[in-house]
Amino acid sequence: MTGPVLLTGAAGQIGTVLRGGLPERGWAVRSLDVAPIDDPRPGEETVVADVTDLAAMVGAVSGASAVVHMGGVSTESTWAAVSHANIEGSYCVLEAARRAGVPRVVLASSNHATGFTPRPASGLLREDDGLPRPDTYYGVSKVAMEALGSLYADRYGLDVVCLRIGSALPEPTATRHLSTWLSPGDQVALVDAALRAPSPGFAVVWGVSDNTRNWWDLGAARALGYEPADDAEAYAAALVEVHGEPDPADPVHGRVGGEFTTSDFAAEHAGEPR
Ligand SMILES: NC(=O)c1ccc[n+]([C@@H]2O[C@H](COP(=O)([O-])OP(=O)(O)OC[C@H]3O[C@@H](n4cnc5c(N)ncnc54)[C@H](O)[C@@H]3O)[C@@H](O)[C@H]2O)c1
Repeated sequence: MTGPVLLTGAAGQIGTVLRGGLPERGWAVRSLDVAPIDDPRPGEETVVADVTDLAAMVGAVSGASAVVHMGGVSTESTWAAVSHANIEGSYCVLEAARRAGVPRVVLASSNHATGFTPRPASGLLREDDGLPRPDTYYGVSKVAMEALGSLYADRYGLDVVCLRIGSALPEPTATRHLSTWLSPGDQVALVDAALRAPSPGFAVVWGVSDNTRNWWDLGAARALGYEPADDAEAYAAALVEVHGEPDPADPVHGRVGGEFTTSDFAAEHAGEPR
């Protein structure tokens, strides 16, 4: 594989982890964000650009071997903000890759594309279990992101891997995270697998660590070559002691999207009257 990986959202939480971890796995990285990156690592290229600027994105992807698209609004906000950054932005990333002949795009989708799905009483949820059930405008934008990825795979032959990320955090801080955590090391391992998998076509996979309490099936991610190393259970005793065991009768624990499924959360973050 020649050419660097274009990493959008490189100044963000996951982007910062990937800027450190992908080079350790042999990837050259071209880091893009609207925010400047003031601490480039040796060999790292940096670009300040907006993912919704198609002309800028065509230039930014030039010569790249793949795009890892992490840039955008990463929680609930107004429809205008979310749809512009995340839907228009995903279109521009995919269209720029197509125009520049970049063969693979890895998209940061989210569990919130399916947030109203009830947490399973037993067994594991698969990526193709039922229709999307977005819990927010943010979740709708991730459904649209996956649909755009599907279109560009079917129509133009791009390889597009959508990662339905759970909770990407340094460590679990709530009992929900015992089921949704994606550790920093596993963030790198998952993206590395999505970049390396031979001819994945269009794929949607869950992005969580090997958590004892997982409710998402990692079979599709493992089929790409993902080998998670971490398990949130190491934090369970301390979190349960403070917060108690998760109560499935509480909507925050009864639906996979957690607090994003509550009216108060959505209204507060979208700036809407309650
Ligand atoms: N962190 C999680 O637990 C989690 C869970 C599910 C999905 N995701 C998704 O993963 C991606 C990365 O998440 P994160 O936690 O690192 O988010 P973050 O908010 O920390 O970082 C997002 C980055 O994108 C940049 N950005 C925003 N709008 C942009 C634009 N128009 N053009 C270029 N850059 C822009 C921001 O400056 C920021 O650096 C997001 O798409 C998010 O929705 C994250």
